[in-house]
Amino acid sequence: MSKKILVAYKSKYGSTRKYAEWIASELNADLFEAQTVNTKLLSQYDVVIYGGGLYAGGIAGVKLVVNNPCKNLIVFTVGLADPNSTDYSAIINKNFTPELLAKTKFFHLRGGIDYKKLGPVHKVMMAMMKGMIQRKPESEREADDIEFLNTYNTKVSFEDKRTINSVVDYVKGL
Ligand SMILES: Cc1cc2nc3c(=O)[nH]c(=O)nc-3n(C[C@H](O)[C@H](O)[C@H](O)COP(=O)(O)O)c2cc1C
Repeated sequence: MSKKILVAYKSKYGSTRKYAEWIASELNADLFEAQTVNTKLLSQYDVVIYGGGLYAGGIAGVKLVVNNPCKNLIVFTVGLADPNSTDYSAIINKNFTPELLAKTKFFHLRGGIDYKKLGPVHKVMMAMMKGMIQRKPESEREADDIEFLNTYNTKVSFEDKRTINSVVDYVKGL
């Protein structure tokens, strides 16, 4: 019998929603916005895939799957930073207990940003981030810092449908 799969997501500007839609479509899964999901619904699925945008080191809405039991939990994050050169251990350890961590599979996908669409609080946060980077001596700036400054106040997108393959293949192999 095929597994019942749920994809839940929290997305402020749309990148995580796009990835969640692609993944749900490939896996014939049911797709929900995180705020419409409760404990009872989660308990009805064999596999739960949760997607959350990265915001200042937090995974948007991830408490849904941290606080509720899920049979097979897969979490994907969507951020601006390049997953190939980013260490996610601090973000993950902040949000997950060691017990839950051991039972969870993580994937990190890349989103984008359009500064024109940012809300006022996020605009201020990004301006503060820019200030922090600019105060670093140039020799101490990392590749991500340089990219941040180069793309500040512009629109960039690194969304790539092919990067869902790792998630889809993993779930198909369960
Ligand atoms: C205030 C703010 C903080 C952010 N913090 C991070 C971060 O810590 N790491 C990261 O990779 N991306 C960060 N981003 C970029 C978002 O994760 C990126 O725009 C992502 O595509 C958002 O997903 P969404 O469109 O589903 O909301 C941040 C963006 C904003 C506006």
